[in-house]
Amino acid sequence: MDEFVEGKNYKLSIIHQDHYGRGIAKFNRYPIFIPYTLPGELIEVKITKSKKNFAEGLPEKLITVSNNRVKIPCENFYVCGGCDIMHQKYEDGLKMKKRNLLEILYKFGKIDVTKLKINNVVKCDDIFNYRNKVTFHVKDNKIGFYKNETNELINIDECKIINDKFNKILKYIKKHLSDSGITEIVMRYGTYTDELMIIFKSNKNIDEQFIRNLVKLNKSVKSIYLLKNSKYKLIYGEKYIHENLLDKTFRISPDSFFQVNTKQAEKMFSKVLKYINSDDKNILDLYCGIGVISLIINNSRKNIIGVDIVKNAIEDANVNKVLNNASKVEFVCENVSNILPVIKRAKKDLDVIILDPPRTGIDKNSVNIINELLPKKLIYISCNPVTLARDLKTLKENYNVEEITPYDMFPITHHIETVTLLTIKEN
Ligand SMILES: C[S@@+](CC[C@H](N)C(=O)[O-])C[C@H]1O[C@@H](n2cnc3c(N)ncnc32)[C@H](O)[C@@H]1O
Repeated sequence: MDEFVEGKNYKLSIIHQDHYGRGIAKFNRYPIFIPYTLPGELIEVKITKSKKNFAEGLPEKLITVSNNRVKIPCENFYVCGGCDIMHQKYEDGLKMKKRNLLEILYKFGKIDVTKLKINNVVKCDDIFNYRNKVTFHVKDNKIGFYKNETNELINIDECKIINDKFNKILKYIKKHLSDSGITEIVMRYGTYTDELMIIFKSNKNIDEQFIRNLVKLNKSVKSIYLLKNSKYKLIYGEKYIHENLLDKTFRISPDSFFQVNTKQAEKMFSKVLKYINSDDKNILDLYCGIGVISLIINNSRKNIIGVDIVKNAIEDANVNKVLNNASKVEFVCENVSNILPVIKRAKKDLDVIILDPPRTGIDKNSVNIINELLPKKLIYISCNPVTLARDLKTLKENYNVEEITPYDMFPITHHIETVTLLTIKEN
């Protein structure tokens, strides 16, 4: 649009927030997206991108400030982009997340949100230091995060949302390690077990004295790996760490998925547990990871099969089954899109399918097969409302969407996790 020139400043009023938490200003009907701003604010904006249908900008000066703006406790906020709604009052951010969820369900799923129960977002008790996993990148003597959608590495000395033990270790690494060939550092932590794992990705070996000092000063470190040529080599301590969830114990391998916010995950899985009743005997737990949901809902009267594509996750799941005395639960390493046709051919009786796919959601063919298998209940856990809405659009041909509960799994970011209960339509 001719009115908005890249590099020039404009005074704009923010009227709404988009699904990424960015402020939206409108000129006639032309939208301008400005991160780190809030509805009700008048902002001096520098335009960074001007296209035919939209523009983007960055705030240069706050002229009128929203009552929902809070002091930002992080010096990297404007450059890192990770915690994209840290400037917003927590409760107001939760309301925004629910509003966005409703909009997305309608826009991408044609779901009549007035006709189903959508709960308020379940808040997180700790909005800082909640992440039990972090990935730092290393380049040109900097250790930190890549600026959103760029190759620009931002140097980070402290991150507000990761477990504080990671920050201490980061400080130590920065002080004592140089020329190591490291390109990535991953840290994982068991919130209830105080077991910490570090994975250094490097084409060189790591100095042994450095490792000895690191574990001496950081007592929680139980396991250190070197990831070299895509192979994990244990260079200190135990092969695995553990975490507890709802009184069950789980073994975690370096590359297995585990929910990043342990305490919030407990709230979410309690909901899943509530949806399973004594009539539900035959249960399929698709995208099961290391078997967390299967083992939480397990009891001796149930037949549960968990499926995941990652070999190490299924190996962990089989160990977790022993750790939690769940000998009847079965775990299968397979692609969901391959196992569903097998289940369909076998005409297996199913009461419930639990689905917890990655952000991409469930592939189209698998959704169609679920629509043919017709278990009486589906429980769909999702970290991406857009793919959730897309999949619900097909599933609602045969299912009623009964209840959706959003969980604030990733506080002070725009992300949202949901648990959806679907029950079969009666003809
Ligand atoms: C969001 S995680 C859920 C894990 C588990 N339910 C939990 O809460 O710990 C998604 C899981 O799906 C698995 N996955 C991704 N694509 C898959 C596929 N096509 N078939 C089977 N599993 C898949 C990943 O390995 C990962 O463990």
